[in-house]
Amino acid sequence: MRKNVYLCTYFFYMCGIVGYIGKQEAYPVLIKGLHRLEYRGYDSSGVALIDKQKELSVYKAKGRVSDLEEFCKSKAISGTLGIAHTRWATHGEPNNVNAHPHYSQSENLALIHNGIIENYAVLKEGLIREGYTFQSETDTEVLIQLIEYVKISNRVDLCTAIQLALKQVVGAYAIAVIENGNPDLLIAARKSSPLVVGIGDAEFFIASDASPIVEYTKQVIYLEDEEIAIIQRNEPPKIVNLNNVEQTPQISQLELSLNALEKGGYPHFMLKEIFEQPRTLKDCMRGRINVENNNVTLSGIIDNKEKFLNAKRILILACGTSWHAGLIGEYLFEELCRIPVEVEYSSEFRYRKPIIYPDDIVIAISQSGETADTLAAIEQAKAAGAFVYGICNVVGSSIPRNTHSGSYTHVGPEIGVASTKAFTAQVLVLIMMALNIAKEKKTISQEQYERTLTELVQIPPKIEMILKQNEKIEDLSKIFTYAHNFIYMGRGYSYPVAMEGALKLKEISYIHAEGYPAAEMKHGPIALIDQEMPVVVIATHNTTYDKTISNIQEIKARSGRILAIVNKYDQKVKDMADYTIEIPETEECLDPLLSIIPLQLLSYHIAVKKGRDVDMPRNLAKSVTVE
Ligand code: AGP
Ligand code: GLU
Repeated sequence: MRKNVYLCTYFFYMCGIVGYIGKQEAYPVLIKGLHRLEYRGYDSSGVALIDKQKELSVYKAKGRVSDLEEFCKSKAISGTLGIAHTRWATHGEPNNVNAHPHYSQSENLALIHNGIIENYAVLKEGLIREGYTFQSETDTEVLIQLIEYVKISNRVDLCTAIQLALKQVVGAYAIAVIENGNPDLLIAARKSSPLVVGIGDAEFFIASDASPIVEYTKQVIYLEDEEIAIIQRNEPPKIVNLNNVEQTPQISQLELSLNALEKGGYPHFMLKEIFEQPRTLKDCMRGRINVENNNVTLSGIIDNKEKFLNAKRILILACGTSWHAGLIGEYLFEELCRIPVEVEYSSEFRYRKPIIYPDDIVIAISQSGETADTLAAIEQAKAAGAFVYGICNVVGSSIPRNTHSGSYTHVGPEIGVASTKAFTAQVLVLIMMALNIAKEKKTISQEQYERTLTELVQIPPKIEMILKQNEKIEDLSKIFTYAHNFIYMGRGYSYPVAMEGALKLKEISYIHAEGYPAAEMKHGPIALIDQEMPVVVIATHNTTYDKTISNIQEIKARSGRILAIVNKYDQKVKDMADYTIEIPETEECLDPLLSIIPLQLLSYHIAVKKGRDVDMPRNLAKSVTVE
């Protein structure tokens, strides 16, 4: 084994970056930070430290951060400078060797990296020709070897070597590098992957997001693309670009509270986040809805009123759950504002030569604000001259910083990988946007506007009523743990909800589930129905209620097992369904805010019953910063 590489032999599962330089021991700060970042992705983790003897050591383990901790227990770990990483593998399987930090050939440098070096193969070939050998299958190791090669062959200092090496890199990176023999220097850089620098009292932090930093300092600098932070012990960080031109950093104040990062007595973050929704939706409405004047205003809409009034088309770009919120946006903007809408997966949009007009409004939805495909799609839309509006949760993240305007969802950190409270707040922002635009465009009657607003403020207490049925839903979940497949059906506004319900179940219970528009069942999927197949139907009172009833009958006639989400006093559906969950009635366009709640709880309980790792399901990352 190479000098000072300690590899763990545990088998477990766990992308995030943390770094520390200051007066404290770095290891505890780094481990705590890794735990806070574990939600971003997880298959392995590692730390590199420089001790009093100025010697660099690397410790890594496959699995969770707790496995790394276990492994490090028996090691004499010390040092007030260190970097740490949780990996979500892109190149090379999750194992001890591929885990970060990676050494350079001489073992004088150690590097952590989030992202992908797309031209790693060409760079690697060149380095092999120069006599470099590689221990891992990662793209990351190529970068640290390149930095060392540039440093030695050009006889330059570490920062210059990093600048020269990064100029050769195609791809995305957030990196941090430390050097054997130099306990006073931490260098970090980013492009397309997030990186924050925390400024404390004679101590400095770097991290993928602010969560590992918040308990030490509220002062942060969000690095911009192709910026490098040179952090010397006891000196304010210096920010330069790849051409070594000094940049003036903007210091921001964190508003994140430590409390918001803890589980608060719930067994899982996901359950806590489901139960937070009455409050998070109130937070999201705060300052935007004036109940006395019956008015909703979003500053982002008012500031750009002419653009929204003249928009010929709205394009909504998002991925996953945020895409489902976007589909609800399509129904909202078309019904209330009479503006044609197209909803696109960011990943498909960016590669299919899309037609974008300068008078298009593009709405990008993202909880994390860091989703690589959505960021790239935004750049494409901006290049075509479109106005881009972001709906994001994470304050200061890349999407809000790269869009023309936008609205935050303000629900606080969402830690559970399966999105819950972020989804309802995204839908709520879309509802408020649609009402605001519709009022300005006069495409909504005053009566409908006021009625919808009055109902909107009733949504949080109505969600409380649904949450009271948690135990009943837990009981119901026991019945369904046997299932290998699930179908979710809905029509109109309930169709995206059906898809979101199915996604929640897949993500955390690993049960295959499909969300379908109820009327489409007879065009194919109905062939799947037998007495084993659970079918979850959203059958609330809306314009297609009677049609949905016919669809339920079609399923019943084939012995499917129906679990229906119904409004109170709905005897018709209750008589047909095997099981029902009641939710309060509301305006049709607001119904998704209520009907998704039981579906979130149902997936949660099924996953718990199946012994799944609800907050950190396999193969998933909270923030998908790779394509
Ligand atoms: C949600 O439960 C998922 N984990 C995932 O689909 C997520 O919604 C998607 O990756 C988009 O993330 P974003 O909202 O942060 O852009
Ligand atoms: N591409 C790198 C790897 O596979 C980094 C992945 C990450 O962002 O964690 O190791």
